[in-house]
Amino acid sequence: LRLQLAEPSVRQGWWEQALKPLLGEATRQASFAARAYPFGRDEIDSVVALAKIQASQRQRSEVTPSDVESACQVLAGQNMGELAQRVRVALGWDDVVLAKETQEVIDEMLTYGRFQHTVFQEHGYAAKMAYGQGLTALFWGPPGTGKTLISGLLARELGLELYKIELSQVVSKYIGETEQRLAQIFDEAVASGMALLFDEADALFAKRTEVKSSNDRYANLEVNFLLQRVEHHEGVVILTTNFPNSIDEAFMRRIRFKAEFPAPEAPERARLWKTMIPRGAPRERHIEFEELGEIYELTGGEIRNAVLRAAFYAAEERRPLGTSHLNRAAQHEYREAGRLLPGEAFEFD
Ligand SMILES: Nc1ncnc2c1ncn2[C@@H]1O[C@H](COP(=O)(O)OP(=O)(O)OP(=O)(O)O)[C@@H](O)[C@H]1O
Ligand SMILES: [Mg+2]
Repeated sequence: LRLQLAEPSVRQGWWEQALKPLLGEATRQASFAARAYPFGRDEIDSVVALAKIQASQRQRSEVTPSDVESACQVLAGQNMGELAQRVRVALGWDDVVLAKETQEVIDEMLTYGRFQHTVFQEHGYAAKMAYGQGLTALFWGPPGTGKTLISGLLARELGLELYKIELSQVVSKYIGETEQRLAQIFDEAVASGMALLFDEADALFAKRTEVKSSNDRYANLEVNFLLQRVEHHEGVVILTTNFPNSIDEAFMRRIRFKAEFPAPEAPERARLWKTMIPRGAPRERHIEFEELGEIYELTGGEIRNAVLRAAFYAAEERRPLGTSHLNRAAQHEYREAGRLLPGEAFEFD
C-alpha cells in the first residue's frame, strides 16, 4: 500500500536534494519540472539511478536535466502502461483566452485544488463528507476551444501530471476485463497523485437508459462502474465533451465543477489572433486584430492553425507577417471547413 502523495512543494524539496549533486545550477528548474511526476522518495532515487544510466549510455559523464526528464517519463509510463497517455502542455496561462464565466470556474477549481488538503484534512471537513472530495470536472464546448489545453494547465498548476485515458483502447484490448483495468488506472492515479483526463466523455457516459443489445448492456455495466469510481475518486478527474446534452443527468450531478467552453466571441477572437503570434516573430507593427476577430467566426484551435499558415505565407514572401496574410489564412480555414465566408452568397448549382 502506498501512502498519499506529498504536497508538490515537499516533493520539490526532495527532488532538489536528490538532484543537487548531479545538476548544480540547473537543480531548481529541473526539480520544479520533476515534481509534476507522481513520485515519492523511493521513486525519486530510482529516477536518479536511471538518469545516470541513460547519461552513460549516451557517452556522457554528466547528467543533464533532460536525462532526468526522460527517466521520469520512463518510470511514469511503466506504472500506467499503454492505457494512458501523458498530456504535454507547451503553453502557459498567458496564452489562454477564455470567456469570463469559464475563467471563474477554472479559478475556483484552482483554489479547490490548492486548499483541498487544508480544508478537508487540517480543518476537518472530511468528516462531514461521505465521499466525493475529489476535484472532478466536466468541460463542454465545441472542438478547439481549449478544453484539453486548460486541463493540462490546471494539472501542471497543481503539481500533477495529466494522463489521458484511451477508453476505447481499454475496452477493446481487455474485453471482459475493462472494469479491472479501469480500477487499476484509478488506483494508480490515487496512489501516485496523477490527474486523469477522459476525452469524449459523451461516448462513455451517454444516457444509460437505452439498452438495445447485450453489447449495450455490457457497456452500461462499465459506465456504472466508471460513474462510481469518478464519484469516489480522491484525485483530479476531468471529462470533456462536445455534446453535453448526451450526458446522463445523474452523472452531471456527481461532478463538482462544470465549465462551458463556448466558441469565442469577437473580442476574444481578436485577443487570440494577437496572442498566437510569438514574441519576436517578424510582423508588421500594425495588424488589424479587431477586424480579424470581428469578421471570422473561428475557434482558438482554428485561429492557431490560421496564424501558423499565415506565418508560412509571410516567410515564403520574405515579408513580415501582416493583416493580409492573416486574412488569407482565415479564409483558407473557412474553405477547408466547407463554410461560407461572412457575406458570401449561397450558391445553388
Ligand atoms: N481558449 C483558448 N485560449 C488559447 N488557445 C486556445 C484556446 N482554445 C484553443 N486554443 C488553441 O487550440 C489548441 C487546441 O485546443 P484544445 O485541444 O484544448 O481544444 P479542445 O477544446 O480540447 O478540442 P476538442 O473538443 O476537439 O478536444 C490549443 O492547444 C491552443 O493552441
Ligand atoms: Mg480536447
